Amino acid sequence: MAPHPTLLAMDEPSSNLDESTGWALGKTLAQLKASGHTLVIAEHRIAYLMNVADRFFYVRDGRIQAELTRKQMLMLSDDERRAMGLRAPRKIVRPELPLPQLIPTNTHATPTLEVRQAMMAFDHHQIFSDVSFTVDQGQIVALTGINGAGKTTLARIIAGLLKSKSSQILINGKRLSARQLRHNVWFSPNDTRTEFFTTSVAEEVMLLVSPNETNKEFARRVLHELGLWELKDHYPATLSGGQKQRLSIACGLVARRQVLVLDEPTSGLDSYNMTRLAETLSYAAHKGQAVLVITHDNEFISSCCTHNYELASKPSH
Ligand SMILES: Nc1ncnc2c1ncn2[C@@H]1O[C@H](COP(=O)(O)OP(=O)(O)O)[C@@H](O)[C@H]1O
Ligand SMILES: [Mg+2]
Repeated sequence: MAPHPTLLAMDEPSSNLDESTGWALGKTLAQLKASGHTLVIAEHRIAYLMNVADRFFYVRDGRIQAELTRKQMLMLSDDERRAMGLRAPRKIVRPELPLPQLIPTNTHATPTLEVRQAMMAFDHHQIFSDVSFTVDQGQIVALTGINGAGKTTLARIIAGLLKSKSSQILINGKRLSARQLRHNVWFSPNDTRTEFFTTSVAEEVMLLVSPNETNKEFARRVLHELGLWELKDHYPATLSGGQKQRLSIACGLVARRQVLVLDEPTSGLDSYNMTRLAETLSYAAHKGQAVLVITHDNEFISSCCTHNYELASKPSH
């Protein structure tokens, strides 16, 4: 930070922070304000700012459409707030969800994805160990844990993008190599800016499948279901963050990957796009996919996740 600034402008400073770090940021901002700084903060998550911000400017279509006080913000009804696309101004408690452990029955004993005794160390420093859980078709499992717990690392192992000899990753009961995992697991990274390869949405979803009529028809249906049909001729790079997230999921669906893994997909999404994403994942789960989603977002977890696995952080000594 520059010495003695009088005005600080920030762009979504909390978007990749875990819950307690987000609240800690709120305290830091309150201290900065108390010591005389002026703060201008662009944000989707606003609950952590309710004791800091004095005024809220609501921007829509490139213009300031409304100015609200803290009290007016808290008095909005849920319907009014959602119509404006705003996130909840009050703290949302994480819902209590079951652990993702499949209880074998006679009819269905093998989960779609099983993570068995996963562990990872970098430079002799163990990041996590003894991680075991399952994700079955139709389930949406939230993978939570503080910043640095190893969530992205674990997701990359599951997707076959990072090798870990000691971790066992099974798909339909069979242990797969990293290369095989890449063919069965769809990974949507936190940053979708660099992920697309073609010049239109319609081409992008067909990239990994043969262009026969069955696949084309399925792709059309998926684009309709996910609200991307009107954008089919658009250049992927020109889509909004929420549209890019949905396009990435559409690609995984059309390629018929059995497992979808998403890394913090709601950072930067307003309430409308967050709800849309929750519906999209529910659609994918309903279609028989197993979904694992890394997230800190309790509002999002409440709206679609069926299970929760918390990745414990290891003390560094
Ligand atoms: N390639 C790497 N080499 C060394 N350390 C790494 C590497 N990738 C991640 N780490 C470390 O592993 C830990 C877990 O990182 P990450 O998986 O990104 O956590 P999370 O996604 O839960 O925030 C961090 O301490 C990070 O610095
Ligand atoms: Mg991460």
